[in-house]
Amino acid sequence: MSTPALEFCAVGMRYGTDATAVHALRDVSLTVTAGELVAVMGPSGSGKSTLLAIAGTLLSPTEGDVLISGTSLREASRKELAGLRRRSLGFVFQDFNLLPALTVIENTALPLELDGLPRAYSRAQAREVLASVGLSDRLDAYPDELSGGQQQRIAIARAVVGERSLVLADEPTGALDSATGEEVMRLLRGRVDAGAAGVLVTHEATHAAWADRIVFLRDGRLVDETARDDAGILLTGSRG
Ligand SMILES: Nc1ncnc2c1ncn2[C@@H]1O[C@H](COP(=O)(O)OP(=O)(O)OP(=O)(O)O)[C@@H](O)[C@H]1O
Ligand SMILES: [Mg+2]
Repeated sequence: MSTPALEFCAVGMRYGTDATAVHALRDVSLTVTAGELVAVMGPSGSGKSTLLAIAGTLLSPTEGDVLISGTSLREASRKELAGLRRRSLGFVFQDFNLLPALTVIENTALPLELDGLPRAYSRAQAREVLASVGLSDRLDAYPDELSGGQQQRIAIARAVVGERSLVLADEPTGALDSATGEEVMRLLRGRVDAGAAGVLVTHEATHAAWADRIVFLRDGRLVDETARDDAGILLTGSRG
């Protein structure tokens, strides 16, 4: 079997050290392979965003280890981590994080240009991925000239440009109407079918249904993946 794109090995995460410390993740083990989309569900505060931030090397776990394409994040140097982040990882956040002063194509090409790739090459790659999300006719528009759905499509294009091997999405459909949300899910699914690994945090059962596997977090623990009957209870908890 090939090396998993992402492996969590008994990961724990505590925020703070004193009596007010929050134990956001406990003993989480999870493997995601290329071509696989895993949905993470669970109530508000259960640790979903923490899990994603750790997978994205934005946070270091306080216990356990994470491997990305076989590289241990505990053993990797700062430089190796920065390289992984730039080349292998793509993020999609709920609030898009587009740069308002840059055009559609500039926003999309940014990860490659930051990585020092030639501008013409970066733009060509961005043009190709923007075509795949149906934005070829808006390359020179600015984000505030576009709808929420179009902005989210740029965010996805930017997350997958240059063939990132691991795409992490934290409620990427949160701010979108249901038709646009479906379209975003189709894009994510397509990217994973083309060989990336994907982790999607969502509150929407209809979006989680696009995943190969759904895992549930409750109080920082991964609940048995086969326990799909728990979904109703967990979702009710999240809506409060
Ligand atoms: N920077 C931080 N400092 C201290 N505690 C934090 C920090 N970030 C998150 N937490 C706490 O860790 C726990 C998990 O938070 P997390 O954001 O991962 O939950 P979540 O499942 O993504 O919730 P939501 O569905 O509301 O986005 C919560 O109790 C939260 O208050
Ligand atoms: Mg969250």
